[in-house]
Amino acid sequence: MRLDVEYLEFMWPMRHFLITCGAGDRANIMAVSFCMPVSKSPPLIACAIGKDTYSRKLIELGMEFVVNVPTKKLQAKVYYCGFNSGANVDKFKETGMTPGIAKRVNPPIIEDCVAFMECKVRESFETGDKIMFIGEVLEAYANEEIIRGKTEFEYAVGNFPRKVYGGRF
Ligand SMILES: Cc1cc2nc3c(=O)[nH]c(=O)nc-3n(C[C@H](O)[C@H](O)[C@H](O)COP(=O)(O)O)c2cc1C
Repeated sequence: MRLDVEYLEFMWPMRHFLITCGAGDRANIMAVSFCMPVSKSPPLIACAIGKDTYSRKLIELGMEFVVNVPTKKLQAKVYYCGFNSGANVDKFKETGMTPGIAKRVNPPIIEDCVAFMECKVRESFETGDKIMFIGEVLEAYANEEIIRGKTEFEYAVGNFPRKVYGGRF
């Protein structure tokens, strides 16, 4: 017998990323798991960003974002950035994470993360309840220890979290 399911359960588990967008006082952080490579040459990343998010507005304004790769020890902060909106809170301040200067784009990197992809939006289109932003990776760099394979990335573990995928997301 086969039963109908929530399709997302079978895309599980997923990696978690922190997207930074905006700049200066308006810099924001958002947790994202709908994020994947879609071309090697040129290097392109696709990120599906909720229509009602503050990040969507900031990305459309600046046409740039950074994909920051968090480690497992940042898990609670990843969830904070995924359950709160930058329209209401300053997520750098609330999480205590430190903004750093990116090499080629205006949004900051998150110093607490271990790898970084600076992206320029090349295309965007609507996909259901999200806007799909296709970003060209202008710069990609990582801390030495992860290149040597000593760090555990933050990714989805445990049971499928209905709380995450059934809520604001
Ligand atoms: C682990 C996790 C992953 C998430 N992945 C996505 C995603 O891929 N796309 C999306 O639109 N929202 C995703 N969200 C929800 C957003 O992070 C959430 O709506 C956030 O509050 C938006 O922040 P903003 O309004 O400051 O932009 C995720 C949340 C969590 C906790």
